[in-house]
Amino acid sequence: MKINSIILENFRNYKNLELDFDDSRNIIVGENAQGKTNLIEAIYLTAFARSFRTNNSAELVMFGEDSGRVSTDITSEDIEKNINIVIRSDGKKMIKKDGKAIRKTTELLNNVVVIIFSPDDLRIIKDSPEKRRTFINRELSQMRPRYYEVFRRYSDALRQKNAILKGYFNIKKKTFTRADNLSLNDISPYDNSRQYNVEMLDVFDRQLADNGYEIIRYRKEFAEMLSQEAGEIMNKISGGREELRIEYKTSCDFITGTEGRDILYKQFYHNREKDIYNGYATLGPHRDDIEFYINGKDAKKYGSQGQQRTIALSLKLAEIRIARQILDESPVLLLDDVLSELDLDRQRFLVSEIDDVQLFITSAELNEDVIKDLRGGTLFRVENGTITRVDKY
Ligand SMILES: Nc1ncnc2c1ncn2[C@@H]1O[C@H](COP(=O)(O)OP(=O)(O)O)[C@@H](O)[C@H]1O
Ligand SMILES: [Mg+2]
Repeated sequence: MKINSIILENFRNYKNLELDFDDSRNIIVGENAQGKTNLIEAIYLTAFARSFRTNNSAELVMFGEDSGRVSTDITSEDIEKNINIVIRSDGKKMIKKDGKAIRKTTELLNNVVVIIFSPDDLRIIKDSPEKRRTFINRELSQMRPRYYEVFRRYSDALRQKNAILKGYFNIKKKTFTRADNLSLNDISPYDNSRQYNVEMLDVFDRQLADNGYEIIRYRKEFAEMLSQEAGEIMNKISGGREELRIEYKTSCDFITGTEGRDILYKQFYHNREKDIYNGYATLGPHRDDIEFYINGKDAKKYGSQGQQRTIALSLKLAEIRIARQILDESPVLLLDDVLSELDLDRQRFLVSEIDDVQLFITSAELNEDVIKDLRGGTLFRVENGTITRVDKY
């Protein structure tokens, strides 16, 4: 997969930019706050229809303008495609592929697979479970279109279930001072719509079980692949001293096979009073996590900062390998200001592992040796929303 060229109009600090990219290596250097990450963000937008640093698309439109535009020519499966995204200042987006409107994000997701590595990712081991779930959701949504669908359905059902649970919770707060032994029946005299709500909870729990089952199955499979690939990479980086294992930890009783969904449903059903007590859904893949072990020890608790960063690097490289296996094509890799966060050995290891991937690297400055390692590429300089091609090296 390749990003061939890009046009930006009123996107962040780019008034008007047209740029052809190198098939292999694009090195984008510039001082702080000149527009390096903004360019990476535009490429990311082409792949995901959203930014990686804001949920509010309105921020992407240049200050004071009514709309902004990102138009990208890409090649995937040997076919050239154009993705055109117009963002209005109210945050609405209009996406076209080859001139035809796209209404579902799934239609966009598998056109070009982009993996981003930024300094934030280096903290993934120490970060909250939510960050690790976002990581896994992002990757699976791109590589498994069905995952995105089931995840969306799960999220819808979860939102509606939580709304009902919150309703109970508010009644409880008003009615009881000691709510310890609260149950559905206790609430009933005060809640006229109890019967309706119980029925709806049941509907949502069914949907959560059906879609949640698939989510957990996909994630477990992905975690196993990660464990295998990242383990191998970690082994290489550490000269065989560090054995990495990755495990998906679910909050639910999960078994694969035909009863899997029913078992999940029953669990949600039996957990209902606890959910009501808490005012939100306490079980399900939205509460799950990924765990990392180095030589059998929990890396979140016992790993050094250096080890945690090496795991993060191994994870990214593993993602690339997995994308290749699943897609039969190399993904595009975006390295946003992350090289300078790694020591020289790690930088050179990274560069040596990604020979056949189209690469976008941003940095305030780059080490000479690393530039030599990156033989064959194009150097761009960013200054205040303009980009000039400096050199082919
Ligand atoms: N919507 C916007 N309109 C105009 N300028 C913006 C907008 N959003 C961000 N900027 C500007 O973009 C610059 C930051 O760009 P960024 O790509 O994050 O910098 P860096 O080169 O450090 O990665 C800042 O000067 C900021 O004011
Ligand atoms: Mg930046």
